[in-house]
Amino acid sequence: MTVQYMPGFGNDFETESLPGALPQGQNSPQRPAYGLYAEQLSGSPFTAPRGTNERSWLYRIRPSVKHTTRFKAVAFDQWKSAPNVNDHQLSLGQLRWNPMPIPNEETNFLAGVRTMTTAGDVQGQAGMAAHVYAFNSSMVDEYFFNADGELLLVPQEGGLRIKTEMGIIEILPGEIAILPRGMIFQVELMDGPARGYMCENYGAKFTLPDRGPIGANCLANPRDFKTPTAWYEEKETPCRLFVKWCGEFHVTEIGHSPLDVVAWHGNYAPYKYDLSTFSPVGAILFDHPDPSIFTVLTAPSGEEGTANIDFVIFPPRWMVAEHTFRPPWYHRNIMSEFMGLIKGQYDAKEEGFVPGGVSLHNMMLPHGPDAFGFEKASKSELKPVKLDDTMAFMFETRFPQHLTRYAAETDALQDNYIDCWTDLKKRFNGTPEGNWS
Ligand SMILES: [Fe+2]
Repeated sequence: MTVQYMPGFGNDFETESLPGALPQGQNSPQRPAYGLYAEQLSGSPFTAPRGTNERSWLYRIRPSVKHTTRFKAVAFDQWKSAPNVNDHQLSLGQLRWNPMPIPNEETNFLAGVRTMTTAGDVQGQAGMAAHVYAFNSSMVDEYFFNADGELLLVPQEGGLRIKTEMGIIEILPGEIAILPRGMIFQVELMDGPARGYMCENYGAKFTLPDRGPIGANCLANPRDFKTPTAWYEEKETPCRLFVKWCGEFHVTEIGHSPLDVVAWHGNYAPYKYDLSTFSPVGAILFDHPDPSIFTVLTAPSGEEGTANIDFVIFPPRWMVAEHTFRPPWYHRNIMSEFMGLIKGQYDAKEEGFVPGGVSLHNMMLPHGPDAFGFEKASKSELKPVKLDDTMAFMFETRFPQHLTRYAAETDALQDNYIDCWTDLKKRFNGTPEGNWS
């Protein structure tokens, strides 16, 4: 199976997996080629402004109404939705977790999702949930769509083959995939067990941030986003379609695969992105800009400059600033920061924050380099240094993030994270030189 992609962000794509399957010159022919059904999938209200209006036309073996029968409720107890507050006894704090273990028993993607935090309100279509996933088996004859928001998948270990209605996406650690709200998909393993992170965006879709004075290039460039070409399976066997809808799960039994779109066109589609293609911009003389300079994708909230979610990465880069404390500074933030590490080390925390782990610095809670990192950076020789073999990321939201009971009670929670700042010394001694010994 060769997976093919079309480059561009938010383009009006067109693709067909059988010649002539895609109607030309109109959307809804009286009798589409190959006996296909025409169907529109709307990702925005019909009347959304042109810049945010998103829809695709799908030409499929059966219309989607044939991909559901009667629903019945089903439980995925560890996948939570906002609001999910006061679900635990843990007090407020800066928190950090070890990687979630790969399960021993057979577990697929759907069963392998554990929600760490929720923010906002799924019914109000604002906010997000931050999940981790770990699983060891592929979905077979099982499919899923999430009506509650788009999904941003960030693998940390193991490749994922995501078969969607609109084509197949394969991602390895270091790449991400975005699956639009409502998109039916199935997740298979590519090379053994998988672990990673997932952001569920209840609000407006992720888009590219404006670059302002940076200009027309750098950061995430549109051509590096890849949308799959059309692909379908004609499978007439019993299948189950799971749905997440307003925080509840439902399942419906059908007699065939719902991944039956032979051709499609439009701008509402899944895509992938290789984080190594992000072209970072940073300080080239002194100080450093706010971490928003590393924003890959932003999901607007409706209030200008105030993201529902920013997806931010900390990629390999050169550090060259003169007479500057180069790691992230100490700060307090009205936004809430959920961080993960895909590989390597994060420059503010050389110990304790390991690949697959999580840290959470919630609204207005102070944080910054640990004592070791501060000592090292305040005394190091400021020659050009390359931070290499690293990739950390952040889901940052305007909403406070509420822990789930799983996050509060899991053995993976580190009980000593707060101690990482204990050894920060008082340097003030009343003299302009201070005490830097
Ligand atoms: Fe921060």
